[in-house]
Amino acid sequence: MKMLIEIGTPERAETWVRAALAQKKKVMGFGHRVYRTEDPRAAHLRRMSEELARKAGQPHWFAIQQTLEDVMRREKGLYCNVDFYSASMYYVMGIPLDLYTPIFAISRVSGWCAHVLEQHADNRLIRPRADYVGAMNRTWTPLIRRS
Ligand SMILES: CC(C)(COP(=O)(O)OP(=O)(O)OC[C@H]1O[C@@H](n2cnc3c(N)ncnc32)[C@H](O)[C@@H]1OP(=O)(O)O)[C@@H](O)C(=O)NCCC(=O)NCCS
Repeated sequence: MKMLIEIGTPERAETWVRAALAQKKKVMGFGHRVYRTEDPRAAHLRRMSEELARKAGQPHWFAIQQTLEDVMRREKGLYCNVDFYSASMYYVMGIPLDLYTPIFAISRVSGWCAHVLEQHADNRLIRPRADYVGAMNRTWTPLIRRS
C-alpha cells in the first residue's frame, strides 16, 4: 500500500514500475515462491478490490494496480500474489497500514496452532505440500444450519 500511495495516480503507474524494474527493485505484491502462474486467491481479491474501491469512491487504486499487473506480466512474466489486492482492500476499509500484517496473520493462527500440536505429537518436519490422507467426501453444513 505504501507503494501505491507513492505512485499516487494511474498516469504515473507505468513510468514508476518501469523505473523500478530498470533499477532491479522488487515490486511489492508480485511473485511467489510456489505459484508460477496466477495465485488463485488473487482472482477473487481483484474482483472484490475493484468493487470496494468503486463503492468507496477511490477507483484510482484499482486503476494503478491494473497497470502494475499488466506491466509486470508483460515485462517479467510475473503475476500478483495474495497481498497485492489485499492492500487496497484494507486501505479503503480504513484499516491502518500497521495492522495489515497482523490481520493476515490472524487468519492463519488456527492453522499455525494445529501445526504446533502436530509437531509436538510427532516431531517431524512439517511439509505443507504433503498429501492429504484424511477422510474424503465429507459433508459440510453452513454455520447458519448448525445447531
Ligand atoms: C515472493 C518472492 C520472495 C519470491 O522470490 P523468488 O522465489 O526468488 O522469485 P523467482 O525465483 O520467481 O524470481 C524470478 C525472477 O523474477 C524476479 N522477481 C521476483 N519477484 C519480483 C518482484 N516482486 N519484483 C520484481 N522482480 C521480481 C527475481 O528477481 C528473478 O529475477 P532474475 O531472474 O532476473 O534474477 C519475491 O517474488 C518477492 O520478494 N516479492 C515481493 C514481495 C512480496 O510480495 N512478498 C509477499 C509474498 S506472499
